Amino acid sequence: MESLEKIQQYVTELFAKLNFEKQPLMLYEPFQYTMSLGGKRLRPLLVMLTADMFSADLKDAENAAIAVELAHNFTLLHDDIMDASPLRRGKPTVYQKFGTDKAILSGDVMYAKAYEYLLKCDTEKIPALVKTLTSVLVQVCEGQAYDMDFEQRNDVTRREYITMISLKTAVLLAASLKTGAIIANADAQSMNALSEFGLYLGIAFQLQDDILDCWSDLNEFGKVIGSDIVDNKKTILFLSAVEKANDEDAKELITWYLEKTTDFQKKKQRVIELFEKYNVKEDVEQMIGQYTIKALEALDKITVEEERKENLRTLAKQLINRKK
Ligand code: IPE
Ligand code: IPE
Ligand code: MG
Ligand code: MG
Ligand code: MG
Repeated sequence: MESLEKIQQYVTELFAKLNFEKQPLMLYEPFQYTMSLGGKRLRPLLVMLTADMFSADLKDAENAAIAVELAHNFTLLHDDIMDASPLRRGKPTVYQKFGTDKAILSGDVMYAKAYEYLLKCDTEKIPALVKTLTSVLVQVCEGQAYDMDFEQRNDVTRREYITMISLKTAVLLAASLKTGAIIANADAQSMNALSEFGLYLGIAFQLQDDILDCWSDLNEFGKVIGSDIVDNKKTILFLSAVEKANDEDAKELITWYLEKTTDFQKKKQRVIELFEKYNVKEDVEQMIGQYTIKALEALDKITVEEERKENLRTLAKQLINRKK
């Protein structure tokens, strides 16, 4: 078994070798721009860690790892249009830099290329791999639809929120783990346990993303602070604050999320003040801890020696303290 750092390094080098730029540049320049900006490469890392956990050769997991990262980047290109986000990975978003048309189209080709990479995998495994990616991408679209729908609603419940983030974020982490397990011919019980691990880990991951959207260092986070507030996103912070606030503050919060204000700076400042007044960050941090514990518990059901699970355990714990 390889160390976590070694596999991280392997993933970094794998993507450093790729170059997607070719004609027509209108299509592939934004593609290469996005892929070369990196990001954490979490999903391909999950593919590789799982493959390695079940003693597969990392080389055999490369194409599938590239496929999940392409699928992820496709969702980001379109998400930035939907969320009107100007910055990602510390650089202008594709739709800002190249225009919306090109961002849509290069996202589309990334989606197709994800399948192209899956089709390079071991023939026997292709049906399971394609099934996994297809069902997850359907779910991500459903999650994104709920996310947008909730912008307009004021009665979103915690349960609805958890379902939404499970769909838009967590299932792709679960699918990445499953992808690694398919490559490594893992048993069904382990695959189910990995899906459960990925789901809880993914929920914790999105909760942390919601926190970082309000409290982070722009240079590290690489995205504009407070953009969820500008977009009226019903994040866990908003839901918790409205629940905990006195009538006056709750009304003020709801009003900020209804008003078509143009003074976004003021809106962000005031909403964050109210979030801080009700300590919602601390509540969400506690939730992250709880979901991470559930994730770690799911690992117990995987049928490999305990020490082979160490990399996934370490990664899950590291993600709790992530700053980007
Ligand atoms: C961003 O994903 C979208 C979310 C699910 C929050 P990441 O935070 O993994 O983004 P990159 O790939 O590291 O940039
Ligand atoms: C991410 O949700 C979900 C997908 C991209 C599918 P966000 O909209 O919170 O992600 P960021 O914060 O823009 O990365
Ligand atoms: Mg977004
Ligand atoms: Mg979004
Ligand atoms: Mg976000």
